[in-house]
Amino acid sequence: MIGELDHIAIAVKDLEKAIETYTRLLGVNVDHREELPERKLEVAFLKIGDVMLELICPTSEESVVHKFLESKGDGFHHLCFKTDDVERTVNELKSQSFRVAQPPAKGAHDRIVAFLHPKECHGVLIELAQEI
Ligand code: CO
Repeated sequence: MIGELDHIAIAVKDLEKAIETYTRLLGVNVDHREELPERKLEVAFLKIGDVMLELICPTSEESVVHKFLESKGDGFHHLCFKTDDVERTVNELKSQSFRVAQPPAKGAHDRIVAFLHPKECHGVLIELAQEI
């Protein structure tokens, strides 16, 4: 089952600049920052109430986010919802004809994350995240 909204992700070409912009705009500090070598990304999380803002920046041209930025530029990338069992949720959603863009794998914050294809979600990439 899908639970609460966890974070809203924005893809950026320059992580330092984006951190400077959003910490100034929102008046909050970076809560968590981490490199995800498997996905060739560096991410920074800013906490806004119960929701986080995730700034995602590719560390290599091979990253899928690099391709995203090349075609669309900086901007909204995905929504992430919490789930208590990502494997089961993904299987339930598959049976409801949602497609999986990335099967469950380790993500930021040491969580297991999966992504649903944006096509069935009206153009929005959806991430599902389970605490381990
Ligand atoms: Co995310």
